[in-house]
Amino acid sequence: MDIKDMLMSDETLFRDEEVFDPNYLPEELLFRDKELQSLVALIKPGLRGGKPHNTLVIGPPGTGKTTTIHFLFDEVEKASDKMVTVHVNCKLLNTKFSVVSEIHKRIYGFRPPDTGVPYTSIYDKIMTNLGRKGQSLLVALDDVDFLFEEKYANDIMYDILRAYEHFPNVRTGIVAILSKEDFREVLATKLYSIFMPQEVIFPPYSMSETYEILRMRAHAGFFPGVISDELVEHIAEYTTRHGDLRVGISLLSSSGLIAESKAKRKIELEDIEAAYEKKARFVTLEEKLSVLSEGELKLLKEIALDGGIRSGKLYDKVGNCLNKKTFSQALNKLETYGLIDSKFITVGRGRSRSFYTRSPEEDVLLVIDDIAKR
Ligand SMILES: Nc1ncnc2c1ncn2[C@@H]1O[C@H](COP(=O)(O)OP(=O)(O)OP(=O)(O)O)[C@@H](O)[C@H]1O
Ligand SMILES: [Mg+2]
Repeated sequence: MDIKDMLMSDETLFRDEEVFDPNYLPEELLFRDKELQSLVALIKPGLRGGKPHNTLVIGPPGTGKTTTIHFLFDEVEKASDKMVTVHVNCKLLNTKFSVVSEIHKRIYGFRPPDTGVPYTSIYDKIMTNLGRKGQSLLVALDDVDFLFEEKYANDIMYDILRAYEHFPNVRTGIVAILSKEDFREVLATKLYSIFMPQEVIFPPYSMSETYEILRMRAHAGFFPGVISDELVEHIAEYTTRHGDLRVGISLLSSSGLIAESKAKRKIELEDIEAAYEKKARFVTLEEKLSVLSEGELKLLKEIALDGGIRSGKLYDKVGNCLNKKTFSQALNKLETYGLIDSKFITVGRGRSRSFYTRSPEEDVLLVIDDIAKR
């Protein structure tokens, strides 16, 4: 085919490409009945105008936490107008103002202007409105740890939970969503006494569950016969190894694109292997790195370039963009994100720390270069 034919050809393997978009909401939620039931029980008081229980949804990345909350909130909306539910992506909205704006948008259909309207007046307007209508408020703070990176951003949790102090007939609750086990402690310490949540744990999917979910996705996204069940099983194996469903979803769509670019009518094993090498194995890493600052990326790069590098030498390399304090904050962040490990070693009479990347160094460097090009 020449280029013109290729551009004009509407032959495609994809029935619906959006099915593979990271924000796509699947038609059906599989294997999360138990978790959904626990959540329903916890938020139910809100449907009767009472106070929904505060909840912590916790589980590794790609285990359906965000998806389940979307399903739940959609159902709540259909079932009752006694409770307003708001889902906030704290990766994107990580200031007090942006969170309260999102609640405003949910209630009034638009965001307040960024300048000129003070936070407190938006907050008061929202709470007064809820009080007048006798509605309770349930806010899901997704990836809640991001609220703790901006100074005072997590104060929004106090403001939501203590609304009843100034607005006595407003009932509020928070569903905090978290994928980092170790941050649970931080939450407990920093929000001591105000946020004592019930936990709903999202375990990783088994291999056969992963297979069923991916098969459903493939069925929705590809025309019939484009991918065999055996190949979906092969993708499920890769996915379980990484423990993140996104790897499987990315493998489905990338191998579809590769097969399509070779004018094939079906995906073959070699297309999946090529997609894995080229893209899918980086999905989890890309997601983690996409939210790092320039200084943090530089730090990670130096560690990837020199595995086992000691803290003194590392600081010399990045001292131009990080000071002592931000240097150690950035190291902690990389460690809590599961990007690096450190070891204490004895040097002469003293002790020093040395650092390593958790993923293969060449993968880290490839993804960092890729981000730099954007
Ligand atoms: N039970 C399920 N049924 C169908 N699709 C699912 C299910 N669980 C997850 N998925 C799909 O897997 C992908 C990742 O799910 P989701 O974003 O909900 O994970 P998460 O637990 O919120 O991850 P993270 O902690 O990284 O935010 C999404 O594309 C979602 O549609
Ligand atoms: Mg999520």
